[in-house]
Amino acid sequence: MQTITTPTNDFKRVLIWELPVRLFHWLNALCITVLAITGFIIADPPAIMSSAEASESYWFGTVRAIHFITAYIFLANAIMRIYWAFRGNYYSNWRAFLPLSKKARQNILHVIKIDVLLQNEEEEVYKNISVGHNYMASFSYVILFLLALVQIFTGFGLYADMSGWWLPKLFDWVPAFLGGDVLTRSLHHISTWLFIIFTIIHVYLVFYHDWLEGRGESSAMISGYKFVRKERIEKDDHI
Ligand code: HEM
Ligand code: HEM
Repeated sequence: MQTITTPTNDFKRVLIWELPVRLFHWLNALCITVLAITGFIIADPPAIMSSAEASESYWFGTVRAIHFITAYIFLANAIMRIYWAFRGNYYSNWRAFLPLSKKARQNILHVIKIDVLLQNEEEEVYKNISVGHNYMASFSYVILFLLALVQIFTGFGLYADMSGWWLPKLFDWVPAFLGGDVLTRSLHHISTWLFIIFTIIHVYLVFYHDWLEGRGESSAMISGYKFVRKERIEKDDHI
């Protein structure tokens, strides 16, 4: 029986995603999941018929409280990630999110060729594989960050009248600026779906790259480590 051997290259384990990036990632994913679920319940409360005395059942109030508490965690987490974009390593730095160089823009074209048009390379050119985020992924995270800003401004704008604290009050101009609560709430609701669409594409591409590149793409957001070709480490002064 013929055994199929694929060429093994010399890989080294390298820490790419520092702990704050991983903490941000999973706390952000958890917050968005909780905010979307409680948000949809707020948008269309199910008529729960219970024999309990209505004044004693406070489940909707609890759902709203969970939404608002998670909103504060979501905001604090985003602020922590911005801080780490200036404090962290090369791969978590804010420059890694903007295609400022010609090489970065070529990388976007390469990723579109591989991810979107599903073209395969005759021979794997390891230089084309990004050690950190590829610039197409980075671009999607910038869009996600702008979406998070929309949720924070519209959400705290809606919340300003309901809260006695100074922070939401900073946003009480938002509904008036957007022409009223209806548009503010609709923007907040529609953005939720954009988060969901992002997540579906994101998880698919993370698993696709894990399969395509075989360097621990998915688990890297848990362990922090990726496997990088030895030649690459010798050439790349960021590693
Ligand atoms: C900083 C973040 C956020 C704040 C301060 C916030 C605040 C609010 C407030 C005040 C409401 C209206 C509650 C009511 O009418 O009783 C609301 C509704 C909602 N929120 Fe958020 N939210 C935030 C983030 C998010 C995020 C990230 C999502 C989803 C990914 C989300 C999804 C929703 C949805 C779907 C609704 C229902 C909108 C509707 O009535 O149609 N929220 N949120
Ligand atoms: C609600 C769900 C999710 C959201 C909103 C989300 C969002 C993000 C964001 C913003 C980043 C950039 C991290 C940074 O540089 O700070 C990222 C990276 C990453 N995420 Fe997620 N994520 C989600 C779910 C997942 C899941 C389920 C996985 C499964 C393994 C995953 C794996 C990864 C990986 C491996 C990276 C680094 C990929 C790269 O090199 O660009 N994510 N994600």
